[in-house]
This record gives sequence, structure tokens and C-alpha cells, in this order.
Amino acid sequence: MEIDPATHDGSLYRTLTGTVIPRPIGWVSTTSPEGIDNLAPYSFFNAVSTEPPIVMFAPGLRPGRPEGLTDSARNVEETEEFVVNVVTGEFAGAMNETSATLASTDSEFDHAGLGRTASTKVDPPRVEGIDAAYECELHEMRRVGGSHVVTGEVVYVHLDDALLDSEGKVDVNEVDAVGRLAGSYYDAVGNRFRMERPD
Ligand SMILES: Cc1cc2nc3c(=O)[nH]c(=O)nc-3n(C[C@H](O)[C@H](O)[C@H](O)COP(=O)(O)O)c2cc1C
Repeated sequence: MEIDPATHDGSLYRTLTGTVIPRPIGWVSTTSPEGIDNLAPYSFFNAVSTEPPIVMFAPGLRPGRPEGLTDSARNVEETEEFVVNVVTGEFAGAMNETSATLASTDSEFDHAGLGRTASTKVDPPRVEGIDAAYECELHEMRRVGGSHVVTGEVVYVHLDDALLDSEGKVDVNEVDAVGRLAGSYYDAVGNRFRMERPD
């Protein structure tokens, strides 16, 4: 099959989300100006810079919402802060619960029965018991096609000591990250293998 987006009738959503896999999931907590803690998963998520540390997530435009913004996007635009929680196996079900469409006056933390742990440098809390979380200040929010790309500078990092090796570095074998495939398919990180890079 060949697809030319210029003449293609349908959406490329399934093609892109079915082949750009597995995608890490940024589980984004924000706090609205009214003080409601919001939590939602975004698999259009990644790290984009290490010096300074910057991560991104991409909320798609939502027709019918003011400026097409999801609650996460609106909260970030208004408060310029968010926290990215790394989704691990034990939180997969709760993460899915938080993708429910709730009124912006309701908190997904409460909906999914999740506790909050106060952040150190930003207002939005992280998920209680999460292994890794990044506190972020808004770097830029830019409209890109049918989404916004939100980039945030990491201003504080929380890592469970159980993730660390004897040198204090993250041991990737200890990170039970969950990735998004397409539709209702997810991927646990298994079958890790090694390859040394050529010089
Ligand atoms: C695993 C997973 C990944 C998702 N990734 C995205 C994404 O990258 N962009 C997006 O706009 N919506 C994504 N969604 C849908 C949002 O999480 C969902 O619409 C949510 O209600 C948005 O919440 P908010 O309005 O509180 O920000 C994803 C849902 C799931 C379950």
C-alpha cells in the first residue's frame, strides 16, 4: 500500500499510531488555576533535550472545546507548570482510568483512586508511589498541525532508589515502563537485548 497524504481520503491516525511504536507514555499532572489537580496520559511524548533537560507532549486539538484545548493543555497554558509521571506496570490500569473524559471541575486523581505527593518546585503533585517523575516549567507551547506541542524544562526529578545501580545511575532493567501501541494495545518492556555501538 502506498499513501500520499495529499490525496488520501482518511485519517493517518491509525497508520501513525500503529507503526510509530512503542510510544512512551507521559502521564501528565497539572493543576488548574481553580486548584483542581488534573492527570492524563499522553503517548505523543518524549525527551527532546538533555542540556537543558526538556521533555514534550502533544495534546491534539479537541473540537468544541475552548481553543480546542484539553484540560492538560489549558492548565499548562495558564499555569506554565506540569509534572510527567512515568507509567509502570502497576499503574497501567489507573493510567487508563485517567484518560476518561471528566468535567474540568473533577480530578482524575480522585476518579482513579490515586494519591497525590506534593512536588518540590512546582504546584501540580505527582502520583503517589510513582517510580520516576519530572517536574517541569513550560518552555514553549506551539501549535503544530492539529496538535499543540508542549515543551517543558525539567526543574526537578524524583527517582525511586530501587531504580538505581551501585553507581547511582538508572538501571534500565529496573524500569518497568509501559508503552502505548495502537488502540487498546500496550507493551511492557520485555526482551531487552544489548548491542554495543560502533566507534
Ligand atoms: C495511553 C494513552 C495515550 C494518549 N495519548 C494522547 C496524546 O498523545 N494526545 C492526546 O491528545 N490525547 C491522548 N490520549 C487521550 C487523552 O489522555 C484523553 O483525551 C484525556 O481525557 C485528556 O485529558 P485532559 O483533558 O484532562 O488533558 C491518550 C490516551 C491514552 C489512554
